[in-house]
Amino acid sequence: MENKLDKIMDVALKRGFFWPSAENYSDKQAGFFDYGPNGRALKENIIRIWRKELVNKEGMIEIDGCQILPKSVFVASGHLTSFNDPLITCKKCKFKIRADQLIQERTKKEVPEKLSMDEYDKLIKKNKIKCPKCKSEFSKTGIWNLMFPLGIGTERKEAYLRGESCQSIFTSFPRIFKTSRKNLPFGIAQTGKVFRNEISPRQNLLRTREFNQAEIEVFFNPETENDFKLKETKLNFHIKNKVQRISVKEAVKKKIIISNLIAHYLVLLKEFHEKLGISEKEMRFRKLEDKDKPFYSKETWDFEVLTSTGWLELVACNHRSDYDLKGHGRISKQKLDVVDEKTGKRVLPNVFELSAGIDRILYALLELNYKEDKKNERTLFSFKPKLAPVFVAIFPLVNKEGMPKVAKEIFNQLNEEFDCFYDESGSIGRRYRRQDEIGTPFCITVDGQTLKDKTVTLRFRDDLKQIRVKITDLAKKLKDLKI
Ligand code: GLY
Repeated sequence: MENKLDKIMDVALKRGFFWPSAENYSDKQAGFFDYGPNGRALKENIIRIWRKELVNKEGMIEIDGCQILPKSVFVASGHLTSFNDPLITCKKCKFKIRADQLIQERTKKEVPEKLSMDEYDKLIKKNKIKCPKCKSEFSKTGIWNLMFPLGIGTERKEAYLRGESCQSIFTSFPRIFKTSRKNLPFGIAQTGKVFRNEISPRQNLLRTREFNQAEIEVFFNPETENDFKLKETKLNFHIKNKVQRISVKEAVKKKIIISNLIAHYLVLLKEFHEKLGISEKEMRFRKLEDKDKPFYSKETWDFEVLTSTGWLELVACNHRSDYDLKGHGRISKQKLDVVDEKTGKRVLPNVFELSAGIDRILYALLELNYKEDKKNERTLFSFKPKLAPVFVAIFPLVNKEGMPKVAKEIFNQLNEEFDCFYDESGSIGRRYRRQDEIGTPFCITVDGQTLKDKTVTLRFRDDLKQIRVKITDLAKKLKDLKI
């Protein structure tokens, strides 16, 4: 049976969500995707809701930093030495793969990302793992650095594509602090492309070499880390393979979460995903054990959503302490401490990070909203209206009797306010099906009656109901439906 990943890929290709980049070239590389019109629109809608629910709600600042940064930045951040994956190479056919990934696939058990090279070798030996291509032995596990090197200018000065978007937030912190008139704690946000030279990109959008992040770095004084008022909100926590549903207040009291500040942002993250239409039972916060945490993190919570691939990490929440500003201060020989107006003392801010993988969120939304409606012989995405790539499609029932003219007038009128699509090709049934398949929540059809009484049919994607609405009432009606 075709799996969900393949199904989503089929619809993505057919309906212009995304496709492999440079797909017609023989030297195309795995792990790169182009977004088409519907994928781009969906991605932008996710980012718009992220900005509203997290950035704007919390009065954060948003920047747009460079994707290429000089070597020193990644010396300071530790990425040139520590941003590595374990690599194994077949002794005979030279096939290369990530050691942890292959061991996990073969043993069906989770393998920590932070084992020593010796420990991976032992697991490979113990489980008698051989090359999947030619069945020969693997060489000893080596280190693979994930950064993409570049040469800048005629001197080809050493630089790198960023492996996480937040480094320009850290390098810009002193200027932002000076110019923004913000006081601690405050967040700096950024969306943009990130690049990782993955050994084995796979599972369509889930592990790629070029992808989109939406990152938030909250700068704070550790002395006042608990000065956040918490709601009674309960979250699903997953700690050491056990699930607990408790309030964030209790989680802080029991020292499950380090501080009120972290608890506050985990709640916001849950609320943001609910706004995207993901239900509580499909989400959890998994606390990473030391052997799984990134090298810069003191405490990590992965926000995960249940998909056909298992629990999928969508957002990494890292308490980065003063790791980043300390590193950048040392390498750039700048003082990065600031005065905290609340305490009146100088402090090197700590950082809490919410690092969202936008492509993964987009994939999860495609999967969670995908439906096969056998009775009506259609497939659909049941996106929330404000998320759908096309909000309303407008059709003339037939291409005669002046219907296209009226439909185009309605399109021009509504297109200023909503994402609209005009279509007059093919039967009306096929046009409805095409819109269902990209998740358009509403369709408007101009028919014979429109010409008599200036009303149109408004068709609802989910229950297929149709009502008649006056053309003059359409904009208000649609505004009320944009939830
Ligand atoms: N900034 C965290 C990450 O890229 O994973």
